[in-house]
Amino acid sequence: MPVLFSSRFLLISTIVPFLISIALYQLDTFDPAPAPSDAFTSSTSSIPSLLNEKFRTGAEFIGLGVLHKPEDIAYHKDSGLIYTGCVDGWVKRVKVAHSVNDSVIENWVNTGGRPLGIDFGIHGEVIVADAYKGLLNISGDGKKTELLTVEAEGLRFNLTDAVVVADDGVLYFTDASSKYNLHELNLEMLERRPYGRLLSFDPTTRVTRVLLKDLYFANGVTISPDQTHIIFCETPLKKCSKYNIKEERVEVFVQDLPGYPDNIRYDGEGHYWIALPSGVTTLWNISLKYPFMRKLAAMVAKYGVDLMFMVDAGVMQVDLDGNPIAYYHDQTLSHISTCDKIGKYLYCGSLLQSHILRLDILKYPAQKKKL
Ligand SMILES: *[C@@H]1O[C@H](CO)[C@@H](O)[C@H](O)[C@H]1NC(C)=O
Ligand SMILES: *[C@@H]1O[C@H](CO)[C@@H](O)[C@H](O)[C@H]1NC(C)=O
Ligand SMILES: *[C@@H]1O[C@H](CO)[C@@H](O)[C@H](O)[C@H]1NC(C)=O
Ligand SMILES: *[C@@H]1O[C@H](CO)[C@@H](O)[C@H](O)[C@H]1NC(C)=O
Repeated sequence: MPVLFSSRFLLISTIVPFLISIALYQLDTFDPAPAPSDAFTSSTSSIPSLLNEKFRTGAEFIGLGVLHKPEDIAYHKDSGLIYTGCVDGWVKRVKVAHSVNDSVIENWVNTGGRPLGIDFGIHGEVIVADAYKGLLNISGDGKKTELLTVEAEGLRFNLTDAVVVADDGVLYFTDASSKYNLHELNLEMLERRPYGRLLSFDPTTRVTRVLLKDLYFANGVTISPDQTHIIFCETPLKKCSKYNIKEERVEVFVQDLPGYPDNIRYDGEGHYWIALPSGVTTLWNISLKYPFMRKLAAMVAKYGVDLMFMVDAGVMQVDLDGNPIAYYHDQTLSHISTCDKIGKYLYCGSLLQSHILRLDILKYPAQKKKL
């Protein structure tokens, strides 16, 4: 009886799994935000005329297999050392040599958490935004680690992300999410609700202040060289904003970035460098419009399947007013989380790779595209 066989087959092979999927979908409590508000409806039009679209070409790799996911990089001028926070909890110090393979890497201090953003305090200390621990103060000799703050206005940080120290010693930092921790980065991105904050910590009063709340994944942060503005990036919005410290006012700094911004660093020479761990993909575009897609992606993410892959990472160089100057990127790169320009080199950290990427940008510059 081939007919019966095939209808039973159909029932078992398609209809049953379909009904189970619907039930699972209904039962799953993940609740993504509906189709985007205006905040999300931007294009990706901020591409400057100077481009290097083969960012990997000529790149060298420092600390291969030793530097595990060095998320942020801070250059200590006096010692010539690069400090970076790794996924194994180590803040490592790198003495870079002319030949990258001669670089010396030292395990400096283990925070016991996940060090992300790094900057230097005004008394020789190292300030670390640790995703799990909160804001840390590590003494310059590495012997003492002090927890500075873990909450503000009664709400704990769940993803302390980036930090910058102003010339007057005040620390400005971000908590990317009060709801999800670093392990659940995916869910945070898929839910698309603003759980991030921009904060300050004044070491003289030890008061933690909320400067801005309801931010979408508040990520990289830096301060303008004249010390009047904090620049911070909201990853899913593809933009960075500037916060006027005195007037407590916020305005757009750069928007419509061609990717999702992570750390932003000032190079001391009139430019900011905004790392873009991923370019915009069709899948991200579609999932933004349809919450059920984001819910499905969140459901499969629980089984370790990441649908929201990253491609085409890079870095955008912008001037003091946020105008894009040059864009370095590569289809074959992903997860570039920070780029620091030191001399003629760009040093870039990664959320995924176990190395720091170095590129000589005099040798491999961004150029006007030939027609
Ligand atoms: C550095 O080491 C890597 C891996 O061992 C090797 O592939 C590369 O050629 C070396 N680079 C130089 C400049 O010696
Ligand atoms: C960090 O701790 C050191 C002592 O180890 C202290 O001198 C310094 O003021 C502290 N910095 C901050 C920002 O709290
Ligand atoms: C931080 O995130 C974890 C994982 O989602 C969650 O269980 C926890 O409640 C969050 N912490 C706070 C303080 O909200
Ligand atoms: C994503 O959407 C933006 C805005 O609508 C569009 O400019 C861009 O080309 C899209 N990118 C991809 C890869 O689909």
